[in-house]
Amino acid sequence: MTEAAVKLGVPDVRVRKAGPKLVMVTAYDYPTARLVEAAGLDMILVGDSLGMVVLGYSTTVPVTLDDIVYHARAVMRGAPNVHVVADMPFLSYQVSDAQAIENAGRLLKETGVDGVKLEGGVAIADRIRAVVRAGIPVCGHIGLTPQSSSQFGGFRVQGRELEPALAILQDAEAVVAAGAYALVVEAVPTDLATLITKRVNVPTIGIGAGPDCDGQVLVAHDVLGIEERVAPRFAKRYADLATVMKEAFAAYAADVRAGVFPDADHSYAMKPDVANALRRGAVREYDVP
Ligand code: KIV
Repeated sequence: MTEAAVKLGVPDVRVRKAGPKLVMVTAYDYPTARLVEAAGLDMILVGDSLGMVVLGYSTTVPVTLDDIVYHARAVMRGAPNVHVVADMPFLSYQVSDAQAIENAGRLLKETGVDGVKLEGGVAIADRIRAVVRAGIPVCGHIGLTPQSSSQFGGFRVQGRELEPALAILQDAEAVVAAGAYALVVEAVPTDLATLITKRVNVPTIGIGAGPDCDGQVLVAHDVLGIEERVAPRFAKRYADLATVMKEAFAAYAADVRAGVFPDADHSYAMKPDVANALRRGAVREYDVP
């Protein structure tokens, strides 16, 4: 029998700065969350990437707070013993401190997630401070911030040149000084992520940020190979579920069309005398003489 997982609280995540590495993956539904918990991962992110990999949008921008609430509830039912962070979607925190606190609070109250994630650096550090002061744990997200990817000209690696790299370092320090308990670092060169990891006192969780972060996050659909679009360079595929799923759907369709499914093994039987009486009754009731 496997031991029940012990859910990490916010302080437990913080102390993982000293290792072992935190392992996080996205999940958006109950069955995936259950499997993530069963596999013993430390953290789940109900990412706004759900807009792209589940809802079929081309960016994360259209995702709403209601979408995140709906999916986070399902995840919480599936993984009660995993630390869950939910994304604050675009325009749910950019307008004012009051808007951010209200929406982050709604995520906590209505879903039970352990923390919320906000994208941005220096520009939103005060907003993060306000949310943390309201008692809501915040995970930061710097480097490539997909909600503003159109400003970067698409989903591109950030901080390759000195000036932008220094700006991202300042972002990291500002977000942590504002009270973030963990920091997602996305799509930056390894040297920059390594420096950020050394400079901040909370765990960095990398995605496309090299091997030296304190943890790692990937999008579940990339890990599982469900997503058939060209995956980003940093997304390692551990399975080819797209092929498995397509073959299973095609085999099912072939069986139904050939009349070999449903067969007796997948149907319900009735006692013969009941079946006979049923047939006799049906003849009396419905058959035209
Ligand atoms: O929404 C998401 O899945 C994310 C990860 C890419 C970190 O923010």
